[in-house]
Amino acid sequence: MSVRLGVLAETAMGERRVALVPDVVARLVKNGYQVLVEKGAGKSAYFVDFAYEEAGAKLIDSASEVIAQSDLLLKVAPPSLGEIKAMPEGGAVMGYMDAYHSADRVNALCERKITAFAMELVPRITRAQSIDALSSQATIAGYRAALIGAQLSGRFFPMLTTAAGTIRPAKVLIMGAGVAGLQAIATARRLGAVVEAYDVRRAAGEQVQSLGAKFVALELDAEGEGGYARELTAEEKIKEQEMLNKHVSQADVVITTAQIPGRAAPKLISKEMVEVMKAGSVIVDLAAESGGNCELTKAGETIDHGGVIVNGPLAVASSLPVHASEMYAKNLFNFIALFGNKDGKLEFNWQDEVVAGSALTHNGEIKHESVRQALTGANS
Ligand code: NAI
Repeated sequence: MSVRLGVLAETAMGERRVALVPDVVARLVKNGYQVLVEKGAGKSAYFVDFAYEEAGAKLIDSASEVIAQSDLLLKVAPPSLGEIKAMPEGGAVMGYMDAYHSADRVNALCERKITAFAMELVPRITRAQSIDALSSQATIAGYRAALIGAQLSGRFFPMLTTAAGTIRPAKVLIMGAGVAGLQAIATARRLGAVVEAYDVRRAAGEQVQSLGAKFVALELDAEGEGGYARELTAEEKIKEQEMLNKHVSQADVVITTAQIPGRAAPKLISKEMVEVMKAGSVIVDLAAESGGNCELTKAGETIDHGGVIVNGPLAVASSLPVHASEMYAKNLFNFIALFGNKDGKLEFNWQDEVVAGSALTHNGEIKHESVRQALTGANS
């Protein structure tokens, strides 16, 4: 008997990705897994049922059947309470869990003694890079943000010399040069824009420059735990605003990606700053989902504030569902490879820091210490 992996059609609003794509199904089947796929699961990402069947998956009519028969359920969006209730007690699930903001979900997972692995909790260490869905999906978001900026702007990105005159290249400012920001820089550069980028982590400078952009730096280094940024002090924030004013007012397109783990996104662009931008300038705020880097951002909307267009895209990775699903499925494949698979049973190696570090719940308990503290307020 083989371990059964289940794939559902995602039902969250705007979610077009699917957890496994046919190529990855074929590799899992080759490795001895049985893969159960709900009919139509890949449809919104353009992967048809027939391709899953050809890859060796078993197609199943209903989500509840897939859930009931799976040893490990593979999800993109966090499992709903209904999905968790339908899972066999002691089962396992892997996907985004939105762990810090979903006490109800975490409680339901504990009640059903589900082992839940949260993709957003995968440690950001070198060995886990091929499992890191935050990175794979941020790459997509950064690429898309540059295209949204180009689309909303009334200007060309490249310099053009034409019979009708010479066009100056667009000035693009990227705020936050993490995974998404770096991909936004690379994409805007490929389109010919002149790009500058800002980050509070000094280490980002070299990466920005290697992509052909200018690094805008404050006289500080706010690198915090695990390579992430820390929150700035009140005094540092004032310096930041003064410095940014000049760069924001000169930009044709600003793409913001700044995040601080576990907190609301830092506010980098005030209403006053938007009001000194040129008419026709564009802000694409990739942090819209976590409160926005711009004070005027409305999540899921594009607004016009005195001629400045402020876009707050949601579910950005879903706007490239083919590659987003392919990359996510590979992340899952590499994660599953860390498990043992013996006599039809999955074995979780708790000594492995990637397995242990991304486990949200197990055996009725919250296993992830910082989520446990955030949700229960209790230290161990
Ligand atoms: P993120 O999504 O948490 O934040 C995006 C960017 O915003 C970061 O570069 C951060 O420094 C920046 N930021 C925060 N506050 C800011 C402010 N006030 N002004 C300007 N920028 C601000 O970051 P992401 O992309 O997830 O990467 C975070 C870190 O993790 C990076 O150091 C990256 O190199 C590292 N990393 C390591 C991986 C691994 O080893 N497996 C994989 C991916 C990232």
